Amino acid sequence: MTDQEKPKKSLNLETAVSRLIIVRDLWKAYDNGKVQVLMGLDLDIFEGETLVILGRSGVGKSVLLRQIIGIETPDKGFIEVDGKRISDLSMYQRFNATRSMGMLFQGAALFDSMDVGENVAFYLRQHHRELSEKEIQRRVVEALNMVDLKNVERKMPSDLSGGMRKRVALARVAIYLPKILLYDEPTTGLDPITAMQINGLINKTKKELKTTSIVVTHDIRSAMEVGDRIAFHDKGKIVQIAPKDEFFQIEDPRLQAFFENAILTHKSLGAR
Ligand SMILES: Nc1ncnc2c1ncn2[C@@H]1O[C@H](COP(=O)(O)OP(=O)(O)OP(=O)(O)O)[C@@H](O)[C@H]1O
Ligand SMILES: [Mg+2]
Repeated sequence: MTDQEKPKKSLNLETAVSRLIIVRDLWKAYDNGKVQVLMGLDLDIFEGETLVILGRSGVGKSVLLRQIIGIETPDKGFIEVDGKRISDLSMYQRFNATRSMGMLFQGAALFDSMDVGENVAFYLRQHHRELSEKEIQRRVVEALNMVDLKNVERKMPSDLSGGMRKRVALARVAIYLPKILLYDEPTTGLDPITAMQINGLINKTKKELKTTSIVVTHDIRSAMEVGDRIAFHDKGKIVQIAPKDEFFQIEDPRLQAFFENAILTHKSLGAR
């Protein structure tokens, strides 16, 4: 069994054997091939786990998430989600096939012209046109409660702190009960206490919605808080992947350099 195939011991055995997402030999370039980003990337994600992807800035972590959620098409290779090869589908078919997925975009990406209530209702309205307005409003309040926010529906995104914006963004995807959640840098730019609260919410969401999640981050503390397994993305490939407790024992100079840099950055920001 390779590291990719090895489920975390503490995962439920019934769910651990099932791969919910399979990424194989994925290639993606931009600018007519001048910017080669993904270079034969392989990755398996098991049902029910939270997989953290660590990696330096610019290696292609956000690019990978965009291929998985299907808003971009890879140049080569394939992605299977829940047994469906989504990378081979047309844009329209892919939209339907990826309805069970949600993504928390880097920087929260709320709609600035809409208030919080409208933001949170947005994808629910798109996914479930049959719902009554009363039901939508009920679910907006419920989703905001889940992220520990109350009476903020009429506030505008510009009135919110960074941590609150991330919470609203999480409520906006959690509201339609996605089976798979992709988080792009959920704690970047937040102070350590707010970051810990967001980590707590990621774990709470996993428990309450029983989601399978991918969390992309530079934040090693966050990786330790939320990850069942941790992967290291370097130069367009996943070069290491292991259960959390084994990951930090791996002897790989690329990983050591990443950790040392993260510690130095942490110190230079004045953390004790
Ligand atoms: N639409 C695009 N057009 C051209 N180049 C792109 C595009 N999207 C991404 N890139 C390039 O791909 C590379 C990887 O970008 P990506 O945003 O995935 O990095 P990242 O690992 O998420 O970095 P960070 O940690 O800073 O968020 C970068 O060099 C970026 O400039
Ligand atoms: Mg990114």
